[in-house]
Amino acid sequence: MQVIKYVFQPHGDDRGQLVALEEFKDIPFKIKRVYYMYDTKENVTRGYHAHKSLEQILICIHGSCKIRLDNGREKKVVPLEKPYEGLYVSNAMWREMFDFSPDAVLMVLASELYDERDYIRDYDEFLEYAKNYGELAEG
Ligand code: TYD
Repeated sequence: MQVIKYVFQPHGDDRGQLVALEEFKDIPFKIKRVYYMYDTKENVTRGYHAHKSLEQILICIHGSCKIRLDNGREKKVVPLEKPYEGLYVSNAMWREMFDFSPDAVLMVLASELYDERDYIRDYDEFLEYAKNYGELAEG
């Protein structure tokens, strides 16, 4: 499984750092929605779902957390601990977010508006979806 981590360009000077993200330039899709998680309690794991078509970039803009990616065949854990790093999460990818530091703010840039119909929340259903999706993608 290929993990795509973007390293954004910080515009630093003696005042500090600034990161700017533009759709289709720094982010490979049109950004239709932004949301973020904070005050995540200790030992909490969130996510446990995949999306049929939504694509996302996850940025831990403060603190740290870990993301488990699972394409139905392979799993990878990716730490996010820099405010200038973004993890691309494609559609048809099961994700779990865990190991949040108490100060963690995990921001998500999403390619679609919130739509519960785009979610796959059942892991067995996901495995079936990923299998068919993989076969389609491989032709
Ligand atoms: P949930 O899907 O449980 O979050 P996670 O996948 O990170 O565990 O979402 C938590 C709540 O927030 C749930 O009631 C749905 C709501 N929500 C929105 O209203 N809009 C959104 O864009 C998102 C992501 C969630």
